[in-house]
Amino acid sequence: MSSHATATARQELHCGEPTARELREFRFTDGDFARVRELIYRTAGISLSQVKRDLVYGRLARRLRVRGLTSFGDYLAILEGGDSEEQEAFVNALTTNLTSFFREPHHFPILAEHLKGLGGRRPLSIWCCAASTGEEPYSIAMTVVELFNTFTPPVRILATDIDTSVLERGRRGIYTMDRIERLTPEQRKRFFLRGDGSNAGLVRVRPELQRLVTFRRLNLLDAYWPMGGRFDAIFCRNVMIYFDKETQYAILKRFVPLLLPDGLLFAGHSESFHHAADLFRIRGKTVYSAREDAPLSATVRRSNASG
Ligand SMILES: C[S@@+](CC[C@H](N)C(=O)[O-])C[C@H]1O[C@@H](n2cnc3c(N)ncnc32)[C@H](O)[C@@H]1O
Repeated sequence: MSSHATATARQELHCGEPTARELREFRFTDGDFARVRELIYRTAGISLSQVKRDLVYGRLARRLRVRGLTSFGDYLAILEGGDSEEQEAFVNALTTNLTSFFREPHHFPILAEHLKGLGGRRPLSIWCCAASTGEEPYSIAMTVVELFNTFTPPVRILATDIDTSVLERGRRGIYTMDRIERLTPEQRKRFFLRGDGSNAGLVRVRPELQRLVTFRRLNLLDAYWPMGGRFDAIFCRNVMIYFDKETQYAILKRFVPLLLPDGLLFAGHSESFHHAADLFRIRGKTVYSAREDAPLSATVRRSNASG
């Protein structure tokens, strides 16, 4: 068969049989996708590219089934009408929560060294602002316990995320055994309890470690962040990639006054803040500190004053 004939045959086949998209349970038009993109951008700052269309369909189709709806139009009307419960489920469905214990491990010795330098003269404070299911704040907690060699170190860790379902999992602190495979045998023994019986294959973070971490919902886009004080370190890793540069800059500007002098900002491996060189200077691989002469935003002054 000539290449032209093959192409024609393919076209005929395509015309004759519905595509996977056409076979879908719910109609999902370009207009529906545009409304989803607008809503998630406005609520969570997340910029969804066109390539995410199928993924978005899959995640939201579940919500339509749960609500017994038959069209995306009806679903979007509920969201746009201000149903807060559905708005929460919508955000939870569209966030990407990939994480692991000691992800990007080079950051943890840097954190330990930084805290050691502060010498435990005063209570230390760390904010993990996209904590997902808890592996990151618990890795910070393990680092701190190892550094001070006690389960009651002078450190508090605030773990926040926009997604309420991952926060709940973080609070529970129960993981499958394979999640802690790459930890040392000493760490596994010191920081986790093994499940047995119906919990075989699961591990639970020891309550002594759990006590060091407080989980709270916080949307980085919210105008008000209810912070009580400033931090020695902020972990903001692998979340900025979902935001456009303008949103990233606005958030970075709000971090500046929340960091104590010499405080460190830890970023994800693919996140660089060159566009915020007036706010932060690089201190190591994806580690930053605020510039003394960084401009402060009016929003920040307001939120800190009332925080
Ligand atoms: C890929 S995970 C990164 C988790 C962890 N920081 C790490 O590096 O392993 C991104 C997290 O950012 C959260 N997130 C997305 N948008 C957010 C927002 N506007 N405010 C707070 N958290 C957000 C998601 O819910 C998700 O749990």
